[in-house]
Amino acid sequence: MCGIVGYLGARDCTEVLMDGLEKLEYRGYDSAGIAVFENNEIKTVKTRGKLSQMKNKLETEGKPVGHCGIGHTRWATHGEPSDVNSHPHSNGRVTIVHNGIIENYAELKEFLTEQGYTFLSQTDSEAVACLLDYYYSERNPLHAITETLKELRGSYALGIIFKDFPERVYAARRGSPLIVGVGDGESFIASDIPAFLKYTKDYVLLDDDEIVRLDKDGAKFFDLHGLPVKKETQTAEWDVEQAQKCGFPHYMLKEIHEQPEVVQKTLDSLTSEGVPDFSEIGLTDEMLRGVGRVFITACGTAMYAGIVGKYAIEKVARVPVAVEIASEFRYMNPILNAEDLVIVVSQSGETADTKAALELAKSRGAKTLAVVNVKYSAIARLADMCVNTLAGPEIAVASTKAYSVQIVSLYLLAFRFAYARGAISESEMKRLTSLLEQTPQAISRVIERSDECQFAASQLINTETLFFIGRGFDYALSLEGSLKLKEISYIHSEAYAAGELKHGTISLIEQNTPVITIATQRHILEKTISNMEEVKARGAYIIAICRKGTMFAEGSVDLKLELDFGDLDDMLVPLPTVCALQLIAYYSSVLRGNDPDKPRNLAKSVTTE
Ligand code: M6R
Repeated sequence: MCGIVGYLGARDCTEVLMDGLEKLEYRGYDSAGIAVFENNEIKTVKTRGKLSQMKNKLETEGKPVGHCGIGHTRWATHGEPSDVNSHPHSNGRVTIVHNGIIENYAELKEFLTEQGYTFLSQTDSEAVACLLDYYYSERNPLHAITETLKELRGSYALGIIFKDFPERVYAARRGSPLIVGVGDGESFIASDIPAFLKYTKDYVLLDDDEIVRLDKDGAKFFDLHGLPVKKETQTAEWDVEQAQKCGFPHYMLKEIHEQPEVVQKTLDSLTSEGVPDFSEIGLTDEMLRGVGRVFITACGTAMYAGIVGKYAIEKVARVPVAVEIASEFRYMNPILNAEDLVIVVSQSGETADTKAALELAKSRGAKTLAVVNVKYSAIARLADMCVNTLAGPEIAVASTKAYSVQIVSLYLLAFRFAYARGAISESEMKRLTSLLEQTPQAISRVIERSDECQFAASQLINTETLFFIGRGFDYALSLEGSLKLKEISYIHSEAYAAGELKHGTISLIEQNTPVITIATQRHILEKTISNMEEVKARGAYIIAICRKGTMFAEGSVDLKLELDFGDLDDMLVPLPTVCALQLIAYYSSVLRGNDPDKPRNLAKSVTTE
């Protein structure tokens, strides 16, 4: 989704803004622009396309020279990606950048047109610039902002500069992220911390319906009535290195390699004396005993992590768990009550549908638990309880390490749940936790097999469509493996429960159609193998991903990827196995000449529904 930056200080503003936008590239965008005060005039440069095009434009048109300005990367919603639809938008006195969607923009546009405003772009955002101008009088920007915000419906993060105030940046938010960086004699606004991490680690979270003014005295905060608000400054735990590639060709590969470490960190933070411990976040055994049903709701990869969580919780705790796509859950009028526990899972903590699902669950009286990677995110702050996963910044659009720490958290929850409800003994909870402690090594062993994953990927590069199949936990993994592959390699792929293929989909299998069979679950191995053989008999090219030592009939497998899980319980093997699937997806993308970090059309954090 769009990225916003803003700066006021002694540095070269254009450089700070461009650098910040580069750090926000991971969010996904199709155009970019900046507006900087140069000799008290606002100079705007914007273009459709990537930041490299923006840099060329700055070279040819001349870089604005100044110390105060705003910048933007746009992910088109209203109006195609074009120069004119790119942000910033201006009407002379007010210049803005906007992330989010103004739902009543058509109404506003009609009203403003009647007032004599003309619109240059097809965006919803331009209405905000005009409305700010409409309310701007007596050199009072704060009044213009508060009046404007009262009329906006939808979501926004806004960066605003007023022509009359060349040493001020204003910003406001509702529903879209915006963070204020507090430096020494300089201040920043940004959609995410990495945009200013190089200059300062101190930040303030802007809440919904709050406004910030950056000027030479620092950052001042106001509410919707224009009254001052006291805010707390926090310090980011991430360092610059964590938000950089550190020698890896892509963030995605770096993030895959970080998994042993982040899984270990997350394990350490959620266990004490060898057992899962959620008491710090207020999730007690008594509360778990009182839970009637569990719902897990999320989007994309986070939702697929939820499916692993469902299988684990139902297996060990014997509590019914329903996994629901957040964009469906929020509109399906779910039947919820105070005994229900609704778990929302999100890397970014800003996904609009997941947040709305959480709000709905809260409003219906259910207990809510968030599993979130960004601890300052809206979802983390909204939920009754929050498990903070410790993946660190995940920059690549395709989620990898965040998935692993999400499932680690859900496994631990499953074990504690089972113990609290008497489904397992304390020693069994300890045993399962100690097995989970072995997963970082098992993950490392899989990552060491990158070459084999690359070879498997090389077998797929000319294919147009393929299938993933598996049963139980392997089916949950198939869903994630298939999503990962298609989102970055652009190869069409489908994931099927292995037993379901013959109910229709098997008709799509032709000579050499690749079928990636995940066969790690020993109690149903024979069943999975039968399904694999059914497709082999119809000409499929079989890549089997299995436990070391798994035997298949001669000729039934074309490529075998045997993984060393050590003594891991079958329930836990999704953790190392997913790394092989991530690597296959990564190499398929690279071998097809794509940029795995920035797949086309996708955004990292989806703040629209
Ligand atoms: O930030 P979230 O975890 O809430 O994001 C959910 C999905 O948008 C995300 O997992 C998406 O599916 C990724 N592109 C998957 O790699």
